[in-house]
Amino acid sequence: MELSTTEFIEKYAVKRTGTNSLKWDALDQRYGDPDLIAMWVADMEFKVPEAVTTALTERVNHGVYGYSYTPDSYYEAYFAWQEKRHNIKLEKDWLRFDTGVVNSIYGLVNTFTKPQDAVLILTPVYYPFHNAVLDNHRQLVTSELVNDDGHYTIDFKDIEAKIVANKVKLLIQCSPHNPVGRVWTEAELKQLLAICQRHHVLVISDEIHQDIIIGKKPFVSALNVAHGRYRNNLIVVTAPSKTFNLAAMLNSHVIIPSDELRQRYDTFHKQINQTEVSVLGQVAAEAAYRAGGEWLDQLLNVVRSNYEYLRTELVAKVPAIKVADLEGTYLAWLDLRAVVPADLTKEFIQDECHLAVDFGQWFSKNDAGFVRLNLATEPKYVHAAVANIINSLAKINETRAISAAE
Ligand SMILES: Cc1ncc(COP(=O)(O)O)c(C=O)c1O
Repeated sequence: MELSTTEFIEKYAVKRTGTNSLKWDALDQRYGDPDLIAMWVADMEFKVPEAVTTALTERVNHGVYGYSYTPDSYYEAYFAWQEKRHNIKLEKDWLRFDTGVVNSIYGLVNTFTKPQDAVLILTPVYYPFHNAVLDNHRQLVTSELVNDDGHYTIDFKDIEAKIVANKVKLLIQCSPHNPVGRVWTEAELKQLLAICQRHHVLVISDEIHQDIIIGKKPFVSALNVAHGRYRNNLIVVTAPSKTFNLAAMLNSHVIIPSDELRQRYDTFHKQINQTEVSVLGQVAAEAAYRAGGEWLDQLLNVVRSNYEYLRTELVAKVPAIKVADLEGTYLAWLDLRAVVPADLTKEFIQDECHLAVDFGQWFSKNDAGFVRLNLATEPKYVHAAVANIINSLAKINETRAISAAE
């Protein structure tokens, strides 16, 4: 049954405090204030689709969690989802499982580069990309996306120059892009992949946000660019964790179409990773891929309406705040630099607005003054966040006006 946005929220929204939730229960530890509204880390205040809860309950009621393998039914459900939603045709041989996309990126950096090799990322970008390079003692090379009034594009010339100058070996790409909200077009991806192929730069495409499409542009997987022309120079990582709020279920995918790259991956991983699959993670994901489509469509409507509210209110009341276009992901990216000095953003957001957010400088050293807000939540939190920003700015301006008059 199709639910309206209000009905979806009534049915699925849930209070998360008291569940060891990183987002809500670690506020004091992470931000030094337990009473902030948690709009940071990318998970949601919504329960998973009912079919997922039913499948997990049945499995839990069986009561045994011995070593398991991935059944054919899992591949069927996942492949059907990929084909129906994204026109991606996968093959069983290409697929490897992991306990999370970040974990995979760390593993891939180790598999395909050596210490001190240069790895390129397009900033601002999800901060574990930076960490995966730096923690493994590789050289971090960044190319800033071009920000045109909240619409971001890729600086291809800069990328090619940096690849050549630094002898870059690997590019880690985010598609759709966290935090700037871009869904890259096939033309953009083709240009990027062609540059990488020309200079023998392997590409990891992190497509974890592929199902969170908010605007009109369709998601295009790197696997499908130019009818698959770049597949042999490509590894795609995905998971059901963003789509269906399953992050702690620790089940993710590494897709490697190239026989040669897959062999290198297998050889390396044999040395360090003997983990079997996460049985509950796969039970949950299979049920979600099979029966979670309607739930996802309704969730996306909630995110769209939260984003519309945020953007409309801020444009009307504080037009100097720039809200980036949200084509994909459920993460809004705000540029506050015109209203708050960049070095005071933290004080403003936490002490005045009472919000826990991801700060811009976590994503790029150049982006102090930006904040990322998670919109996969109940509208009441988005409304409160927007009201707190507007009212706190009004208060600051009032104080300034009074002191100017004195
Ligand atoms: C681009 C991107 N990759 C990976 C992750 C995390 O994936 P996982 O929990 O599977 O490690 C996130 C979470 O926000 C993300 O935004």
